Amino acid sequence: MRRAPLSCLVLLAACGGGGDGSATGSSTGGSGGSSGAPTSGGGGSESGSEGGTSTGAPDDGLTPIPAEPQRDGDPEKGYHALLNAGYVSCGIPWTAYSQVFGDAPEALRLPGRDGKSASLPYYQTALVAKSGVEIVTANCLQCHGGEINGQVVVGLGNAAADYTSPVGGSAQLAGLLLTDETEKAELQRLVDRLAAVEPYTQTLTIGSNPADSVAAVLFAHRDPKTFQWYDPPLLALPSKVVAPVDTPPWWWMKKKNAMFYVGAGRGDHARTMMATATLCTDDIAEAREIDAYFPDVRAYILSIEAPPYPFAVDAALAKQGEAVFTATCAGCHGTYGAQESYPNLLVDISVIGTDDALMGAAQFADIYAQWFAESFYGELARYEPQPGYMAPPLDGVWASAPYFHNGSVPTVAGVLDSGARPTYWTRSFDSKDLDPAALGWKHTALDHGQDGEPVADERRKIYDTTQWGHGNGGHVFGDGLSAGERAAVIEYLKTL
Ligand code: HEC
Ligand code: HEC
Repeated sequence: MRRAPLSCLVLLAACGGGGDGSATGSSTGGSGGSSGAPTSGGGGSESGSEGGTSTGAPDDGLTPIPAEPQRDGDPEKGYHALLNAGYVSCGIPWTAYSQVFGDAPEALRLPGRDGKSASLPYYQTALVAKSGVEIVTANCLQCHGGEINGQVVVGLGNAAADYTSPVGGSAQLAGLLLTDETEKAELQRLVDRLAAVEPYTQTLTIGSNPADSVAAVLFAHRDPKTFQWYDPPLLALPSKVVAPVDTPPWWWMKKKNAMFYVGAGRGDHARTMMATATLCTDDIAEAREIDAYFPDVRAYILSIEAPPYPFAVDAALAKQGEAVFTATCAGCHGTYGAQESYPNLLVDISVIGTDDALMGAAQFADIYAQWFAESFYGELARYEPQPGYMAPPLDGVWASAPYFHNGSVPTVAGVLDSGARPTYWTRSFDSKDLDPAALGWKHTALDHGQDGEPVADERRKIYDTTQWGHGNGGHVFGDGLSAGERAAVIEYLKTL
């Protein structure tokens, strides 16, 4: 029996959804009434034409992002490091963990894992901390691994991660299982760190990810030059109202020249990738050790292929759809198959029109970009949020629902018809509940949003597009198509 608490707290509380989702004991209470718009902490110029690469938005609002030199790596070594290395260096002592959990079921294990990690679920890693204590930590797959159609897929964004409850509270519970002082001290590192990030991690809906806010909080508490942790923080903290983000699939990265929805990740990608899991990396020597193998991790990420569509495809209809796609969509999303191309376009917010909360959002404020520039990361990488969104590759799009950067639209049918998008919707969070006709999640449209739902457990399953950051407008490029053309495009997308 896997009770949630410990598995939820190891890195940042991504309890895997699914199951009966009985989450943690602590009910959230505090998330009510947060629809007021928090505004940018940074100056207004944030979304202006920041120096760096952009040479001013062209008239059509489409800015190609150029490729930059990257460090080479070995994908096999990268897979091994991703699943065994200690890039997250604080966690729960094994002594406490093993009192609550037995071996993970086969379906949640991955090959190629060393020692105790072999018996853990894919999203956790066992390692020996500097203190000599054996700990269990979360790895990148906490967010970047997920189930689709009942199968674990490495690199799929976890669309069932539950950040609606506080992440840290139950960490203390593990302390009750420990007697050894060194082990208790080791656990305390995690408890303290989670306490610092916890106020910035609470999302309104299961599946929404707070990673961008967490990064800002971690930056704010560290000296950029030494990575020493400071409590209280050295910089202003971001807004506590999290702008929701849908974790993107890793197979996009083999095509994308900039990381992140707002095209912020420039320069050396491996360096920026390691920055996303430095919960407890508190000195530069440790950062250098991690950096030494991150080009391998990146090489592995670039080797990931989108999983093939698991159901039948109507080839003739798909062929018609390809023609429509080429005429209407390929200019932004690229072409697929034998003549593959991907234009790497950043689409200005005025053109794309999807929710603009990430434009100048507090967690992308100038102070954090400046921190990044002065830091170890800034030696090789740059963090340059742009006033628009990257048009993503559409490989494996069947598996990456919900859609848009904020996951506000449950199906591709909705992406292609802005009038057909539900204002309030809920789903089962069972990865088998796929809708092959509309392509995406089976879901139920509701007549009320989160404010109209008294039961907390139901409320957190409602995607409420009237909440700040959750808007489902924009991307009207499919609106002019006929119903038949849309169905054909959907059929074609299944083949990518
Ligand atoms: C707490 C959840 C979480 C963890 C842990 C996490 N990520 Fe992410 N990651 C995200 C989210 C959310 C995004 C999208 C952020 C955005 O674009 O604004 C992202 C974006 C990325 C991207 C860019 C994808 C793209 O298409 O632009 C890469 C690459 C990536 N993460 C790699 C990693 C690696 C490697 C690790 C482990 C060292 C990691 N992440 C750990 C949540 C997480
Ligand atoms: C002007 C450029 C542009 C055109 C034309 C365009 N798109 Fe997009 N598309 C985007 C951008 C930018 C996003 C990301 C928006 C966001 O995340 O807020 C996007 C997102 C999407 C997504 C969601 C991907 C995901 O996983 O979240 C799908 C599906 C999609 N587009 C399909 C299409 C199809 C099909 C067409 C043609 C009918 C089309 N697009 C035309 C720019 C474009």
